[in-house]
Amino acid sequence: MLLEVREISVFYDSVRAIEHVSFYVNSGEIVSMIGPNGAGKSTALKAIFGLVKLQGGDILFRDESIKGLRPDELVFQGISLVPDGRRLFPSMTVLENLEIGAFLRKDKDIQNDIEKILELFPALKRRIKQKAGVLSTGEQQMLAFGRALMQKPKLLLADEPSVGLSPDYVATIFEKILEINKTGTSILLVEQNARMALEIAHRGYVFKIGTVFLEGTGKELLVNEDVKKVFWGD
Ligand SMILES: Nc1ncnc2c1ncn2[C@@H]1O[C@H](COP(=O)(O)OP(=O)(O)OP(=O)(O)O)[C@@H](O)[C@H]1O
Ligand SMILES: [Mg+2]
Repeated sequence: MLLEVREISVFYDSVRAIEHVSFYVNSGEIVSMIGPNGAGKSTALKAIFGLVKLQGGDILFRDESIKGLRPDELVFQGISLVPDGRRLFPSMTVLENLEIGAFLRKDKDIQNDIEKILELFPALKRRIKQKAGVLSTGEQQMLAFGRALMQKPKLLLADEPSVGLSPDYVATIFEKILEINKTGTSILLVEQNARMALEIAHRGYVFKIGTVFLEGTGKELLVNEDVKKVFWGD
């Protein structure tokens, strides 16, 4: 197991966001988390990345607790986040945004890795000297992935990467997630686009009001009667 989340609870003041939530990611997997608005999916990702405090439970990465570590320490351990809303530096260039992803690295492969990321996202190559703020939403999302990949994560967390993208870019971003996974990066994906998220996932979790309501393989969840009712009204 690469990541093991054990019975975590997070409250915002006295409001319960998630309670006794458990899930895991095996090495090499894509795991998707789906569920209605406010169910606690983003909170679960934020808890892993040290952005919210745990009221209970524990989180293990490669068998060691990472509870209480800061985001920069987690990046060093091999966990990166593609945050919701992308959070790029709009007045900096595409190249500068990628370089920022590598700010914790001291090795000599940085240039080489930028080349690899531009091969994965040719649309960024054409715009390398442009400011991130002028890119289309889809291109910005690719840059957000590129920046996170510059940290060479073993586990990539992504919060709703397809939201706000045109249908073409939605398809592209899911293809790119599969490509990234094939290079050996495990992925924990939160998505509104439940069908596509389950189609590319090895396994998935369905959240419901602060808890994990269902879990199974992507294939199992795609044909699950409750999932069908909640997500595609069948
Ligand atoms: N910063 C915050 N302060 C107070 N309450 C919050 C905060 N962030 C989230 N919540 C509450 O915590 C619960 C879980 O929210 P969360 O954002 O994790 O859900 P989500 O599943 O990601 O939803 P969405 O699909 O809308 O992104 C909700 O009830 C939400 O209103
Ligand atoms: Mg969310």
